[in-house]
Amino acid sequence: MIFYFSGTGNSQWAAEQIGALTGDTVWDIGAMREAPPIREEKRIGLVFPIYAWGVPEPVLSFAAALERTDAFTFGVCTCGEEAGQAMKKLSRIYPLRSSYSLVMPNNYIIGGDVDDGETARGKIRAAYEEIQRLSQEILRREPVYRVTEGKLAGIKSSLVNFGFNKFARGTASFRTGESCTGCGLCARNCPASAISMRDGKPVWAGQCYQCLRCINRCPQEAIQYGTSTEKRGRYRMEDYLQKD
Ligand SMILES: Cc1cc2nc3c(=O)[nH]c(=O)nc-3n(C[C@H](O)[C@H](O)[C@H](O)COP(=O)(O)O)c2cc1C
Ligand code: SF4
Ligand code: SF4
Repeated sequence: MIFYFSGTGNSQWAAEQIGALTGDTVWDIGAMREAPPIREEKRIGLVFPIYAWGVPEPVLSFAAALERTDAFTFGVCTCGEEAGQAMKKLSRIYPLRSSYSLVMPNNYIIGGDVDDGETARGKIRAAYEEIQRLSQEILRREPVYRVTEGKLAGIKSSLVNFGFNKFARGTASFRTGESCTGCGLCARNCPASAISMRDGKPVWAGQCYQCLRCINRCPQEAIQYGTSTEKRGRYRMEDYLQKD
């Protein structure tokens, strides 16, 4: 059984590819009220994106509530570049026998522009090769730690991640422009239920997960975060699947 959380599709895609190769069922943490019974499962996997060298809050709370069993446990994070020590920290909450990172297209358009098409396609191809390899290792129940931690991983995953969760998850900088049609997609799809529609326009609650699904997936590209995202692209995994 594989549980995933995904803002813009990378981790969902990775979870589905792994599930297809290992025969595990795949479940969306964001859509579940509580974890299903897992006692009979041979394998338990957690797949999710890296946020500021750490594990997203909904994944941490899900893992903390997840039953401990004798299953082979593994975690796979997707990241734009490096994961820091996120997997080691997660393993302290829910012990993982294997941990992997997959470098995938960067969706953090608040910090910089999206990857160009060639870079994104190259990352997805390399991630798929790694998925084939790690799936075989998981089936053989081999304990593996293959994570791109990057430099200063300890500091980034402690101090910087703490700062992100404390100060960078506010929503005050989200806004919509004239092109918003009021379709309500952003509100319906927010995994934190942090967006509501008021007078036909989205309104953000004070805090959210910062998954960036709303800003990346608005069909009109009507959502901005301050002014920095006005000239930047938007990222959706499925655009690459359709083109390939
Ligand atoms: C709030 C936020 C913080 C991020 N921090 C990191 C990071 O520390 N290191 C990194 O390599 N990528 C980082 N990223 C990029 C994502 O981890 C990466 O694009 C991931 O594959 C997105 O997965 P998803 O499509 O399943 O949401 C960040 C993205 C977001 C939204
Ligand atoms: S998804 Fe975009 S167009 Fe639709 S309501 Fe939200 S901001 Fe407006
Ligand atoms: S408000 Fe946007 S960025 Fe925040 S959790 Fe919801 S969809 Fe993700």
